[in-house]
Amino acid sequence: MDKLVIEGGIPLQGEITISGAKNAALPILCASLLAETPLKLSAVAKLKDVGTTITLLEHMGVQASRSEDRVVLDASHIHTQEAPYEMVKTMRASILVLGPLLARFGHARVSLPGGCAIGSRPVDLHIKGLQAMGAEIHIEHGYIEARASKLKGARYFMDMVTVTGTENLMMAACLADGTTVLENAAKEPEVVDLADCLIKMGARIEGAGTDIITIHGVERLHGCDHQVVCDRIEAGTYMVAAAMTGGCVKLNNARADLLDAVIEKLRDAGVTVESDATSITVKSNGKLKAVNIRTAPHPAFPTDMQAQMMALNTIADGVAKVTETIFENRFMHVQEMQRLGAQIEVEGNTAIVRGVPKLEGATVMATDLRASASLVLAALVASGETIIERIYHLDRGYENLEEKLTALGAKVKRTS
Ligand code: EPZ
Repeated sequence: MDKLVIEGGIPLQGEITISGAKNAALPILCASLLAETPLKLSAVAKLKDVGTTITLLEHMGVQASRSEDRVVLDASHIHTQEAPYEMVKTMRASILVLGPLLARFGHARVSLPGGCAIGSRPVDLHIKGLQAMGAEIHIEHGYIEARASKLKGARYFMDMVTVTGTENLMMAACLADGTTVLENAAKEPEVVDLADCLIKMGARIEGAGTDIITIHGVERLHGCDHQVVCDRIEAGTYMVAAAMTGGCVKLNNARADLLDAVIEKLRDAGVTVESDATSITVKSNGKLKAVNIRTAPHPAFPTDMQAQMMALNTIADGVAKVTETIFENRFMHVQEMQRLGAQIEVEGNTAIVRGVPKLEGATVMATDLRASASLVLAALVASGETIIERIYHLDRGYENLEEKLTALGAKVKRTS
């Protein structure tokens, strides 16, 4: 298994380009199933999860061609509506084929995603929403068996804010008979980017980005050209890296308007953040103040940035409370950070982080995507060498991580 070896203590300087958002690309790739003509995408990051999704779509009969950051998907010859366990078990987001398959073909057989490291992550709200649209759904042998001659528009209140739940139901509603209103919908920028793409494909959607999304069903959807929105979590991760190492970093293809909560917290920590329409610049002298964090649905502080801000707090001046309200087990990075000398105590869904002057390099293990990223951040400031094992988690969500960090002056190398 690959490892990352990082020499800490170097302030990051320079500029890099942020890739297209993983969490926008995944639903948009699945939206190709709704179209009768090719969907042409650009700014699709070369990530493991993107590859997994394309493989799943090809398994169903989608013709996919990729070159650089461009992907063309043709779903005019789908020969199976099944998403097998072997593929779904490696990536929960595979559930995003359920809505499109049901809407276009009236049938879907999708393996229930397992839980994952950060929590049980059920899909009950996806299923209830589709049933509200008239789908017959039952679970057998670990598969979701769904049938609907024609989905019907419905008003559906989601009793938890769910990002992929909102995306699945929005896609399904595009081809339903009549109007669907999704209440308490997720407002994440990736939901908005999916809606923008669906509208270009001929869908009639209003209110994406608010908590009430209205979708007027249409007969059919066609392909379109779409550039995937920039990855706000990748950008946020490098912003924290610049802050912690006391550097000066410019991120191109980054949008500050997608990161208000993160920028606010970095400024509270004493970091300078400047931006224009397409870039963000972060400057820090490395002297950081501890900041309390409480995750919640967008536009509040994103759960996908919780581990990264915890890393910042481990070396900040003072004591910080980090509260995770979205997932029940998203503190796996804590034990690994403690191996680097961090002072953290966990009480339920809150971690108390006491800043220390210095972290010490050690061997640590990545457990999930964003936890792995937070260990990279800690390693960038720890004295001496840190070895991070099981970095396949990182490859799921960070394109060319070593190249980008090396371009900023970090001493990072990948070994097997
Ligand atoms: C999306 O996951 C993201 N993944 C996650 O990013 C992100 O952490 C999460 O949203 C929250 O922002 C993608 O977009 C591919 P949820 P998702 O449904 O949609 C509960 C990363 O690091 N819930 O919004 O699976 C659920 O258990 C990944 O890039 C139900 O109970 O998350 C959780 O506690 C990690 N029933 C909460 O809602 C349901 O039917 C929010 O989950 C659905 C969700």
